[in-house]
Amino acid sequence: MTASELRKMYVDFFEEKGHKVIASASLLPENDPTVLFTTAGMHPLVPYLLGETHPQGRRLTDVQKCLRTGDIDEVGDDTHLTFFEMMGNWSLGDYFKEEAISMSFEFLTNVLNIPIERIAVTVFEGDLTVPKDTETETIWKNKGLKQTQIYFYGREENWWGPPGKTGPCGPDTEIFYDMGKPKCSDHCGPACKCGKYVEIWNNVFMKFNKEADGSFTELKQKNVDTGMGLERVLTIFNGKTNVYDTELFIPVMTHLNNIIGELDAIMSIRDKRIICEHIRAVCFILGDPQKICPSNTEQGYILRRLIRRMIRLFKKAGINQNYLCDLAEVIILQYKEAYPEIGDNETFIKEQLQNETDLFLKTLDMGLKKADQYLGKTDENTALSGELAFKLYDTYGFPIEFTCELARERGRSVDMESFREKFTAHQNKSREGAAEIQRRAGGS
Ligand code: SER
Repeated sequence: MTASELRKMYVDFFEEKGHKVIASASLLPENDPTVLFTTAGMHPLVPYLLGETHPQGRRLTDVQKCLRTGDIDEVGDDTHLTFFEMMGNWSLGDYFKEEAISMSFEFLTNVLNIPIERIAVTVFEGDLTVPKDTETETIWKNKGLKQTQIYFYGREENWWGPPGKTGPCGPDTEIFYDMGKPKCSDHCGPACKCGKYVEIWNNVFMKFNKEADGSFTELKQKNVDTGMGLERVLTIFNGKTNVYDTELFIPVMTHLNNIIGELDAIMSIRDKRIICEHIRAVCFILGDPQKICPSNTEQGYILRRLIRRMIRLFKKAGINQNYLCDLAEVIILQYKEAYPEIGDNETFIKEQLQNETDLFLKTLDMGLKKADQYLGKTDENTALSGELAFKLYDTYGFPIEFTCELARERGRSVDMESFREKFTAHQNKSREGAAEIQRRAGGS
């Protein structure tokens, strides 16, 4: 199964079930100011989940570009990604649990041909405010799932959203693929991290809104919000053990291996994976029509952090030249059919990568020397002081997460509390400075 076949299988299936296919929205949320990036397919639909009428109707489906930075330190393992594609279907006050689960079940068993015994699901166990979701349990049982395939968990596992402070949310039922290996213990279940269960789909029964005061109110309408990770499904159904062995990453990994081979350099598999993953994410951020540039704030900072991390990993392997534009070309070629914007913005993507590399290479060597000094000098058991970490940030352009990574590689840590103090003091000073300049300009 190829990525484009999977995208098509998904939206065709839901189109047949009366859904309108909508285009992937921007990676920079247009309809949800509570988050920096689109982290799930629901963000562009927030006003409609809250009750506004969507021009295309009450049943929608799409494949949405998403970016999550919460797992950035895990990137390089078999599964974690920053950028990913989420296939989803929505009911905006139309169908609810019964029909949503029926369609999910039909797609899993009739389209993806998953044997029913390979499916495990989780259901909300209830708490003081929202009761146990026995309705969902019954629906799954009616589909033929045994009690042993149904697991109940609390809010930690079976409540989705909102990703920001406020917004639509609700209990969910998550669908897992059972990899078929034995349970690691008597307590092993979908929440266990042993690898027996891999989450592939989430159906959220979005009938609540979280308010600014932390309370939950019922929405005007009962919605369904689902999301299935394209990369995960592709990995599992092609019998691969990690996402880098799928067609999504093979071209860029091959290109990277060629570069490394020609230079006779050595780079760990984990570092190679991080570069392949980050270059894809960066191409999608830079390729977005909103044209974000690397900077020290918000989305621009995430972009900077991803780019600088790749530059450092090349440097770690003794490679000073900029190969990011070459790698970006591979990604652009691969994705421009499904996401034309990254082809349209190819020049901008490369320009920004080149500028940021030139900028960072000016300070990287000196900064790494300083970091070595700082991390070598102080006692091994003490954390690197916030003051030194701030100096690396301010003078040498090291994102703080990057300094943490350098420290971690040496078995050390960073005093984040004192870093934050220095950072905030610096921000306040800059603000005062800007206000002073403005005051003087106004007064003259
Ligand atoms: N919003 C839900 C999630 O991200 C379903 O897509 O899991």
